[in-house]
Amino acid sequence: MSRPILIDTDPGCDDALALLLALERDELDVVGISTVHGNAPVTDTTRNARSLLEFFDRTEISLSKGATLPLTVELETAEHIHGEGGIRGELPEPTSETAPIEGHAAQFIVETAREYEGELTLAAIGPLTNVALALAIEPDLPDLLDELVIMGGAAFTPGNVTPLAEANFHSDPEAAARVVRDAEPTIVGLDVTNAANLPADWIDSLPQESPLGRSIVEWLTYYSGDQLEQYDFETTAIHDALAIAGIVDEGLLETESYHMTVGTDSDIDQGALVCDVNDVTDGEPNGSVALEADFERYRELFTETVDRVVAERGN
Ligand code: BDR
Ligand code: CA
Repeated sequence: MSRPILIDTDPGCDDALALLLALERDELDVVGISTVHGNAPVTDTTRNARSLLEFFDRTEISLSKGATLPLTVELETAEHIHGEGGIRGELPEPTSETAPIEGHAAQFIVETAREYEGELTLAAIGPLTNVALALAIEPDLPDLLDELVIMGGAAFTPGNVTPLAEANFHSDPEAAARVVRDAEPTIVGLDVTNAANLPADWIDSLPQESPLGRSIVEWLTYYSGDQLEQYDFETTAIHDALAIAGIVDEGLLETESYHMTVGTDSDIDQGALVCDVNDVTDGEPNGSVALEADFERYRELFTETVDRVVAERGN
């Protein structure tokens, strides 16, 4: 039986690959997409998400537009990494078929969680503004969900925006703090996603005769040479796809439970994910964080899925 999943996203090159994975795996049933500011302003991420649904031929999936601004800080976007408009590739213009549904994404998240009570996985792969707003509308959201999986945070590894903070948490630290405090998440952060790259020779072997093939290759290589050096990456890390892969294959990630908090007080701790390893706060564990991953299994799952899609539709 496939797991119903709603994906809250800010496409984004790695978001595009995460969506492709989720849409193509029989283990998952994507019942909705919601969009949030992040890699680009929400108008752009919403257009990108719509284009992706058209590109992947899944226009029947409901799409809901979400937050324009973070809860307390200024908007920060990442076109310098993901490309102009927040995504690379040769995406089609969206049509009326993928027009966002009425209402705010936070309400859509709550309604979908109620509809699939106890069964829905909510995967948040952008800043957590929509999820924090959904929690404010429905504080029992964690009980309505089967699981909340977040791509975000850097627990025991340096950040990618500040020395302590990962981009999704840094973009809306107040939202991240509330969600981590109250929503019992499974956090898939930079501790594991920094190594979620794909072999260069496999990327080189992908057929590039079609817009889909060429776009996939652009998404797989979205970090520029300078950025690869800056983060000490051999090849581009596909952060968001690892979070989805961990839902497809439940044995992929090894997690530890901690009492966790997210910093919101000063520039230096803004968006920092803090795990109370020595139990010095006496706080109960309020979620878990992925610290190890079976990257061989991840790469197998990912390459097998993309190879199939490209063979079926990308030539
Ligand atoms: C996260 O930030 C975004 O740029 C990516 O899409 C991913 O969700 C990685 O820090
Ligand atoms: Ca993202």
